[in-house]
Amino acid sequence: MAPLSRRQLLAGLAAGGLSGTRSARAQTPPSLKEAAAAGHRFFGAAVRIDGIEHDERLRQAVLRNCSHLTPEVDLKWDAVEPVRGELRLRAADDLAAFARRHGLKLRGHTLLWHNGIPRWAVESLSASADWTLIRRFFASLIPRFGDSIEEWEVVNEPIETGFRMDGLRRSPFLDAFGPDYIRRALEEARQFAPNARLMLNEYGLDYDIPVERDRRYLLLRLIERLRHEGAPLNGLGIQAHLDLRKGPFDQRVFAAFLREAAGLGLQIVITELDVMEADRSLAPAERDRRAADLVRRYLDVALADKAVAGVVAWGLGDRHSWLQPRRHSPVDGSHDLNRGLPYDHDFMPKPMHRAIGDAFRTAPPRL
Ligand code: G3I
Repeated sequence: MAPLSRRQLLAGLAAGGLSGTRSARAQTPPSLKEAAAAGHRFFGAAVRIDGIEHDERLRQAVLRNCSHLTPEVDLKWDAVEPVRGELRLRAADDLAAFARRHGLKLRGHTLLWHNGIPRWAVESLSASADWTLIRRFFASLIPRFGDSIEEWEVVNEPIETGFRMDGLRRSPFLDAFGPDYIRRALEEARQFAPNARLMLNEYGLDYDIPVERDRRYLLLRLIERLRHEGAPLNGLGIQAHLDLRKGPFDQRVFAAFLREAAGLGLQIVITELDVMEADRSLAPAERDRRAADLVRRYLDVALADKAVAGVVAWGLGDRHSWLQPRRHSPVDGSHDLNRGLPYDHDFMPKPMHRAIGDAFRTAPPRL
């Protein structure tokens, strides 16, 4: 590995991994996993193994802050089996090995997602409603990780507003198998993961705006139906891609939604927390204050509900965030990047880090 520059060294210290000067130590923020664990909750982040292997600062920030990791990409069907019958599991295996080595828990994201189906499977499903495709995929993936994955997001983003009375998203799964595909998928997953928490995961549930009101309503009705049918559904993932462009966040509305979901007997996880900014022309301090304030207000409500077991951020540092416009090309400056994660582009902690930690520290203990 190349020697670290002074800037990288300071950032490594800020991320919490190295030992060194007093000024850098002063920047080292308290560990989020420890803050979470004190209230019997967990904190984690979505990562890709290439990021961990190539960016020491990310690795250090993960080890300092996370007890749980969500593979950002590597368990999705299109990543696992881009060519029919050819499994590509190296990245997932490497991430699982990293997690095992460091005593971290891996989360199962995600089995069925309309945006994560390999092209060959889309074509097959549209030609014939062959459930063995789903069974084979689950069989090739789930047992490989055994009980080390304690929760699987079995269906991701099942709801779409404005089209069907039942709110189910139009997708190759719905087209092939009809509305019952979610129950079938949960039952199929249960065959391979007898002890895991099986979850649905959904986005756009946070704001008091018409489309999100509808989505919350439709999702709750779907959960009710599944529970009524006896489907093995144990949990709900609320993605929480917060967005300052969507206007004010109403704590009371979100609290009522959590209460209702919890009342249906589900454990809840905030699964993909980050913030899309509204105005990148402001001074960085003001931008960071706005993002941190929103996260604090959001988590204060979420963590007040005992059904919420943990929080996963969708990345730790802005450099690796999916919200970056130039995500897949080399990033050489930081001024125009979205600042929606706990660490900045250079892995210096931001006010959002403190906001998450403070929310954990002040929440009533879960147990
Ligand atoms: O690995 C290839 C690389 O080889 C290639 O050079 C590069 C060129 O674009 O693409 C790389 O793959 C990309 C992958 O991210 C890894 O960076 C894919 O094209 C890209 O589609 C993929 O995007 C991910 C997306 O899901 C689709 O899987 C994002 O990173 C990830 O943040 C995003 O995550 C989703 C959640 O799963 C569900 N909720 C919404 C969230 C954001 O869209």
